Amino acid sequence: MSAAPIALRVQGLSVRFGGLVAIEDMTLDVCEGEVVSLIGPNGAGKTSAFNAITGYLPAARGEIVYRGRRLNGLKPNRIAQLGIVRTFQKTSVFGGRSVLQNILMGLHLRSRQRMFAIMLALPSVARDERALESEAQRILDFVGLAARAAELAAALPYGEQRLLEIAIALAAKPTLLLLDEPVSGMNPAETAMFMRKLAQIRALGITVLLVEHDMKMVMGVSDRVVCLNQGKIIADGPPEGIQRNPDVIRAYLGERYARAHG
Ligand SMILES: Nc1ncnc2c1ncn2[C@@H]1O[C@H](COP(=O)(O)OP(=O)(O)OP(=O)(O)O)[C@@H](O)[C@H]1O
Ligand SMILES: [Mg+2]
Repeated sequence: MSAAPIALRVQGLSVRFGGLVAIEDMTLDVCEGEVVSLIGPNGAGKTSAFNAITGYLPAARGEIVYRGRRLNGLKPNRIAQLGIVRTFQKTSVFGGRSVLQNILMGLHLRSRQRMFAIMLALPSVARDERALESEAQRILDFVGLAARAAELAAALPYGEQRLLEIAIALAAKPTLLLLDEPVSGMNPAETAMFMRKLAQIRALGITVLLVEHDMKMVMGVSDRVVCLNQGKIIADGPPEGIQRNPDVIRAYLGERYARAHG
């Protein structure tokens, strides 16, 4: 366990869809600056956990607390303002806008006041816009998409659209970043590049919760790995232990993986 203070505390969380229990009695603490991965088979409840934490799904039971603040019942945009920003399992860039405009929208989300100033075309806006554009360029530089700034987002290859999504999330200045299968659909070179970016994101002090089926990535970047199966946590620990955990091997990793990595 890390000595850093607890950032996110999930206590006894249950999520239901009618009669179906997607998450049952999930308890999980994530410390400041930690990278924690959530793994498990399809339908285990990983995305549902993200949805509950970020306000897209109500908790049937339990409590979610971030930096001492209870999140239950708050709307997604309010939770984002508290610094919890997510990406989605399915790509969700604004395809009809340029790459740069996508980032600018991410930056605007940060400030309601700025949105009003833009709508009212206040004189400060032109000056602000230039500052925002250079900030947007810096973020694009960071993810390696600077050369694509003027292109339509929809024209980017899939892997680069996924990087753009992460850039949009970073523009909202997260203190806790939730990534739902960020490298699915990326080629090996893009995945390797993404792993380096994630190391840089961590170096910025951003806490990360990651859902990913790419085990090389999960085991390479995580401080801790939490395995869900049928809505319940079946293991929680450092990557080395998780790779050898018989319950995790049975429910998810498989014997072949265990033989190759044990
Ligand atoms: N909108 C929904 N309505 C009804 N059931 C849902 C809904 N979303 C998810 N479920 C169900 O909740 C359970 C958990 O799904 P969830 O999407 O959280 O799994 P997951 O771990 O993210 O899986 P995957 O690895 O395939 O993305 C599954 O049984 C799923 O069918
Ligand atoms: Mg999912």
